[in-house]
Amino acid sequence: MNAMTKEWIEVGAVDDVPVRGARRVHTQAGEIAVFKCADGSLFALRNRCPHKGGPLSEGIVHGHGVTCPLHNWVIDLSTGEATGADKGCTPQIPLKVEDGRIFLDGAAIAKLAA
Ligand code: FES
Repeated sequence: MNAMTKEWIEVGAVDDVPVRGARRVHTQAGEIAVFKCADGSLFALRNRCPHKGGPLSEGIVHGHGVTCPLHNWVIDLSTGEATGADKGCTPQIPLKVEDGRIFLDGAAIAKLAA
């Protein structure tokens, strides 16, 4: 693979991710949470809250955000950033869907693992 080639990692079917929920994926960079919003949008974030590492995959999905189950920070799924007065960011992983399958950006995962 040369530096210009984008590598995608298949992580499962769109239908396997519950609506307004998440599915955890184990990668070389640790757990990634793939979220599905009520409108069908999909987002992938490291499964660690930027506050104290809470499991975002167990949070409540609303709009394009998730509320952390530990102390209720709200994380924007499209950016990984905490909203409101809270400050912090968890890495967001680009994804794509082809034929009902979800693919994560392998370069972003490799960078996260480095
Ligand atoms: S660990 Fe997520 S809000 Fe505290």
